[in-house]
Amino acid sequence: MAIENKQTLKKEDVSGQLFRKRFQAALSEISKLYNTIYASHPQSRQGFDELLATIEQSFESRPAVLKGRDLKKLQTEPEHWFLSNEITGMSLYVDRFCGTIKNLLGKLDYFEKLGVNFLHLMPLFESPVGESDGGYAVSDFRKVDRRFGTLDDLIVLQEEMRKRNMYLMLDIVLNHTSDQHEWAIQARHGWPQYQDYYYCFDDRSIPDEFEKSMPEIFPEAAPGNFTYVKECRKWVMTVFHHYQWDLNYTNPQVFIEMLANIFFYANLGVDILRIDAAAFIWKEKGTSSQNVPMAHTILQLIKQCVWVATPGMALLGEAIVAPKEIMKYFGAGDKEAKECDFAYNATHMALQWDALATGDTKVMLAAQHELLQKPFDTSWITYTRCHDDIGLGYEDAAILQAGYNPYEHRKFLMNYYSGNYPGSVAAGALFSVNEKTGDVRISGSLASLCGLEKAMKENDKTETELSVCKILLMQAHSFFIGGIPVIFYGDEAAYTNDYSYLHDGCKHYDNRWMHRPVIDWEKNSKVDIPGTPEHSIFSSTQKLIRIRRTLPVIADKKNLTWLTPHNIHVAGYLRAWEEDRVYCLFNFSREEQSLTWYVFKEHGIKPSKLFDHWQGKKYTVKNDPEYFLLPPYSFFILEPVK
Ligand code: GLC
Repeated sequence: MAIENKQTLKKEDVSGQLFRKRFQAALSEISKLYNTIYASHPQSRQGFDELLATIEQSFESRPAVLKGRDLKKLQTEPEHWFLSNEITGMSLYVDRFCGTIKNLLGKLDYFEKLGVNFLHLMPLFESPVGESDGGYAVSDFRKVDRRFGTLDDLIVLQEEMRKRNMYLMLDIVLNHTSDQHEWAIQARHGWPQYQDYYYCFDDRSIPDEFEKSMPEIFPEAAPGNFTYVKECRKWVMTVFHHYQWDLNYTNPQVFIEMLANIFFYANLGVDILRIDAAAFIWKEKGTSSQNVPMAHTILQLIKQCVWVATPGMALLGEAIVAPKEIMKYFGAGDKEAKECDFAYNATHMALQWDALATGDTKVMLAAQHELLQKPFDTSWITYTRCHDDIGLGYEDAAILQAGYNPYEHRKFLMNYYSGNYPGSVAAGALFSVNEKTGDVRISGSLASLCGLEKAMKENDKTETELSVCKILLMQAHSFFIGGIPVIFYGDEAAYTNDYSYLHDGCKHYDNRWMHRPVIDWEKNSKVDIPGTPEHSIFSSTQKLIRIRRTLPVIADKKNLTWLTPHNIHVAGYLRAWEEDRVYCLFNFSREEQSLTWYVFKEHGIKPSKLFDHWQGKKYTVKNDPEYFLLPPYSFFILEPVK
């Protein structure tokens, strides 16, 4: 016992010393960043002192076990722990998945069976019953919503996950609060101190100026960016829904309060913090109020503070914006790799859907240049589907370069995925149609967008099989491209669209609910019954995860090279590190495709044999005029062997 205590003490000492070192090293940068934002604010000085005290307190109150975990994670340096090929995630709504946090404890075996060791739990903190944008309208950042259980339940879950070497991701909804949050209530009651936490205006003059350059996020369900609040007779900025009030980060108090909330989550044991709507946190008249430079400065400041006090927690910036803009969330120039550790690879997600609809990879290839600029030591969250819609936000230039007209091409994709294009098997829907700008996004589950819903309805065996191939092709592509793949819950068991949202008064206007299923565990038990789509998708997903784990070269070390497109229907990339190499090939077309064997000989080695980890089959590398053949919607994970 005495020895154990000594050891704990020692660890505490080391961790404390390292904290001081980090704090000293980062202090001038913290001060610089802080002053860039707040130097001219009357409460700037006081705010800075509070900021430093918040960092200090957060480290002091960090549980010893988490400090120990920080040290362990730091041991993998200079390579960050999260670059590993051994992490695979799932994103889920606790209530729709299994009811409560307590029940989720009982589902950890399910994740382990699948191979998932990283969970993104969709917002759990208190939000109003009824309309809450799926929990993204938070009324108390520190109280777990009763619907899910208690904070203690969450702590117990995290402890159990930690024991099983699983990782946890939670959201910080940084951009806004619910209109039911205490600060919003005080603001509504007329307290100027709290009105200053938000963007509140007496009349329309400033809002009108903002509106000139601010796009609408939900033009159908929530047009405009301001809401009139009659209790306080103010126009309040509400970029998302009318019940989500945008926080005013020009006020240092707001920053400090939210930083303290970030640390609160860090000290619950969060491994990756998802910063929701990161692109929106700074507003500026005359701009779109998205991706403005000061939003990056705020994120850089958060990164420095988190690095000092709770270095085991990585940051994910949720910025679903144009590729050029996404890249900036990793930090640019002298701030490279000093902002968010992760961003969503939303560009690649959309490009995969593009390739699946067109059956060719022209646009995908044209858009690669940008994505390959990601700094070393940062990573992607890769995915095919998530709780949100699919936006086709990649550059027009890539579409033009591929030889398409951007407007017509996007229109085709919209029609294709909403099932309105002749021959399309997809069963999605259009989301947030903006009549003014022509912008539209797509809703629908992975399985339904790949044709499974329609094929099963029509009892079409061939199409059912093809849609299963498409689902796996899409998943495999995002599993091997680099970053942590995150499966959206239900997709591992072939869930098609759920239309029950149409009968829910709080959800019917938001068709993103069609791809947020309520899990039916009887259906899920079919994952053990061979011959069912549930089984083929589940067991194949298991296999993909297993393969990923056995191939260290898949760890994200900025080690991706696109292969020469000898056949435009096939996407191919090489993952290479030192002596290791893996060629990943994906046939996005409905036809069998052939590829010259030369594709394997262009990158420094000339393998004589290749082992396909997916089919467990060995190939002898041949010479022209023979060809490597890829069946419709097939993929290959090929490693050179003797
Ligand atoms: C993020 C979430 C989305 C939500 C929005 C507003 O984009 O992913 O679901 O509607 O933020 O919080």
